[in-house]
Amino acid sequence: MREDIPGRSNVQDTPELLAYYRRLETLNAGALWTVANEIEPWFPKSSSIPTIWRYETLRDLVLKSVDLVTPEKAGRRVVMLTNPARRHVSASVGWLYSGLQVMRPGELATAHRHSASALRFIMEGSGAYTVVDGHKMTLSGRDFVLTPNGTWHQHGVEESGGWCIWQDGLDIPLMNALEANFFEVHPDMLQPDMYPVDDSSATYAAPGLLPQGSRWDKGYSPLFKYGWDSTYESLQRFARVTDGSLFDGVIMEFVNPVTGGPVMQTIGAAMQLLRPGEHTRAHRHTGSIMYQAAKGTGFSIISGRRFDWKEKDIFCVPSWSVHEHGNASASEDACLFSFNDLPVMRSLGLYREEAYAPDGGHQIVETVQ
Ligand SMILES: [Fe+2]
Ligand SMILES: [Fe+2]
Repeated sequence: MREDIPGRSNVQDTPELLAYYRRLETLNAGALWTVANEIEPWFPKSSSIPTIWRYETLRDLVLKSVDLVTPEKAGRRVVMLTNPARRHVSASVGWLYSGLQVMRPGELATAHRHSASALRFIMEGSGAYTVVDGHKMTLSGRDFVLTPNGTWHQHGVEESGGWCIWQDGLDIPLMNALEANFFEVHPDMLQPDMYPVDDSSATYAAPGLLPQGSRWDKGYSPLFKYGWDSTYESLQRFARVTDGSLFDGVIMEFVNPVTGGPVMQTIGAAMQLLRPGEHTRAHRHTGSIMYQAAKGTGFSIISGRRFDWKEKDIFCVPSWSVHEHGNASASEDACLFSFNDLPVMRSLGLYREEAYAPDGGHQIVETVQ
């Protein structure tokens, strides 16, 4: 790709040059100017495509997996959400992976740990639990749970519970891109509960309070579960005293209560509330984001394409794609749960953000779905 711009590669092929390139290739070498403009674009060019995964379409297929494979055979019984242009790395957007996992009452998946950081957002069912390094957590709809990198974790549903479906989010593709991915199955297949149930929440979830002398030096949050009720109440309280973000409405990040930093080293997460009728302004930034509509109905316009969503629909915003969100209801609020790779962008000094238009305008919608 030639560019007639000073400082950019603009070399015309000649028979002599082509022969030279072939000779370099035989020596596992190459001429940088043949690829320089592609590998150093003027701005980030995501290969991910803005995509929506509609829950009402996928739910039956997720349930069908129960008839087809057992958790023992599958390891994890999950329907992956694959971005059409990122299938080869099993990514949903950028270097993030996501999937829908289903479990029947009494089922459990064996304990394991991996380099990838992971989270779950509970979509339906009752009696689900996760154990992280011996800390058992009980889970309900719209609860957000961490299984940080390197921690032993296992998931299950109590005999007395109902069929459960949740969204998994991991950075498996990033770990593979960095060639740093390890996976281990627990030597005993299951880990024992070593602490009182829900002790992580009892210790670290009190607003503005930490146990005296708290010490926590791990790179992830000691609070593993962020319950929906307190998250939603916090957003409603905050909404009473703020105009919110121009681009995101009333948005709060899930944080490590000890440091105030992101919940995990490579994955951040947030919940945002769009007031009735709210339509945010458009912006773009580095970093990939997966969204799940946690409440209500609305739409997001991503790279000029409008995606209408309702509760439990999942969609992605690729890096540097212009996006804006809207609440379709004039009377009810709408909430979006999201997870992202922004901690990676920020810790590597790569975060960049800009408004779509100086006057804060909206995008022109090219395609309505
Ligand atoms: Fe896992
Ligand atoms: Fe954004």
